[in-house]
Parts: sequence; structure tokens; C-alpha cells
Amino acid sequence: MSGTVDITQDGGVLTLMMNRPDKKNALTDAMYGTMADTLKNADKDASVRVVVIRGEGDLFCAGNDIGDFLKSSGNIGKTNVFRFIRFLGTFTKPLVAGVQGRAVGIGTTMLLHCDYVVLAQDAKLSTPFTGLGLVPEAASSMILPATIGHSRAFAMLAMGEPMDAADAVAAGLANQLVANTDLNEAVAKAANRIAALPPGAMQATKALMREPGVTGARMEAEIEIFTQRLQSAEAQEAFTAFMEKRKPDFSRF
Ligand code: COA
Repeated sequence: MSGTVDITQDGGVLTLMMNRPDKKNALTDAMYGTMADTLKNADKDASVRVVVIRGEGDLFCAGNDIGDFLKSSGNIGKTNVFRFIRFLGTFTKPLVAGVQGRAVGIGTTMLLHCDYVVLAQDAKLSTPFTGLGLVPEAASSMILPATIGHSRAFAMLAMGEPMDAADAVAAGLANQLVANTDLNEAVAKAANRIAALPPGAMQATKALMREPGVTGARMEAEIEIFTQRLQSAEAQEAFTAFMEKRKPDFSRF
């Protein structure tokens, strides 16, 4: 299956570039594997001060590859999806993201673990889990309501309503809104500013601000239900409908 995550390092800034633009950077198991391994290694590598997550092409990330969901439903626990999510929640160095276009599912929930997020003008965040017969992941069922309040989080997580870039910045989901043409520069500037600060103080500050034990426990609770939901007839109908390019029909449930 096509798709890579390209890793580059410039000074203390390590960049993870999701690179599968023909499929809107939908994440395959191999891509999750690269991202998980990269975070694991970067956490131990003193030369890395900050990790940046980007997506190649016209949008950031269309979420998990839905064909992979169909194939792996009974064995999701053995794939790299949750390995990546768990590393995200425990990563000790600052994470920066730059988002253009759509960020769907994990494309949005990974941003909740980023410490500095820059959105381009056309960025749109969405988490259409229930429409896929699924439940939220990556502790988003806890972090999103805590960040933006229950009402807005319900509209996103339960009703699948997207949030545009201006609303996301106003709601505290991102730091900066810039023109699409300025995204690369704004991300580089933020990452370099963070990388230039004392790393010990930076990591200690992040550790004080994040609660990996608490979010980790929520992730595990979500993973249990998510795994069950993947095998549900509702999810199978949603995935099959996506692959067949038709509207799902939930009327029989
Ligand atoms: N899994 C697998 N393939 C995906 C995908 C995904 N999550 N998202 C997009 N693709 C594929 C499409 O099937 C299409 O493939 P094709 O060219 O072989 O037909 C290609 O990527 C382009 O997608 P398309 O839908 O034509 O692009 P768009 O710009 O019109 O729409 C999105 C972009 C992201 C809005 C739309 O692709 C989408 O809704 N994707 C599904 C998102 C999703 O539900 N993710 C799971 C969240 S848990």
C-alpha cells in the first residue's frame, strides 16, 4: 500500500511529514508504525528538541485508512494505531503541528496532544466517529470537552460537525491562524523558538502541564470500546459505504 511518513531533522527540529497526498494522507498501519517509532526514538535522542507534524498536499490528514479499518477490525490491537496513540500521550518533548485543509479523525485528535498548533486559513477540524459507528480515541473524549466545553465537543465528537480555523483558534484548540502561503514559515518560526529554549526547563514545563497517567487511562477505556465498535454491524456498514462511495444506511439498526 502506498504512503510514507518522511522524517527530516534540521537542528533541533525533527519533522514528521505524512506523505500520501493521493489518499489525502489517510494513515495506514505502516505510516502509524513509522510515526510511533519516530516518537519513541525522538524522546530519547538529545539532539531532538521539538517534533513537528505536517501533512503533504492540500490537506493535513483524512484520518485512519478506512480500508485498513475494514481489514483489521478484529485485530486492531495488534496494529500500530494504538501504539502511535499511546506514544503521543506520553511523549515528553514539545509537539508542534501545522495544518492546512481538512484534519479528520486522528488528524484532529492528534492535535490535542500537540503543544503548539498553527492553522492555515482553510483548515477544518472534524471527528466523525459516530457516523462511522465508532467512538472517540486518543483521549479526545476527555481532552476536547475539557478544552472547548461539553456542548461544542458534543457537536464535534458525537455529531461530527467540523470546526473551521477561526473558531478553533477562538476555542483554544490552536495558537495561530495564518494565510496558507505563510504556514511553512509560521510553523518553522514556532518550532525554532521552542528549540532554542532550555530543553530541561521545556520538558519539565510540559510534564507539569500534561497528565499522561490520566489521559492514558482514558485512552485505554476508549480503546476497549473502539475495538468492539470496529466489529459492529454499524461500523461495517459505514466503512463499506465509504469504500463503495455511497451514503451509509443506518435505518435497519
Ligand atoms: N481512508 C481511505 N481512503 C481515503 C480516506 C480514508 N480515510 N480519505 C480519503 N481517501 C481516499 C478516497 O477514497 C479517494 O480515493 P480514490 O481517489 O481512489 O477514489 C482519495 O482518497 C481522495 O479522496 P476524496 O474523498 O476524493 O477527496 P476530497 O478532497 O473530495 O475529500 C475528505 C477529502 C477527507 C473530506 C474525504 O476524503 C473524506 O471524508 N475521507 C474520509 C475521512 C474519514 O472518515 N476518516 C476516518 C476518520 S476516523
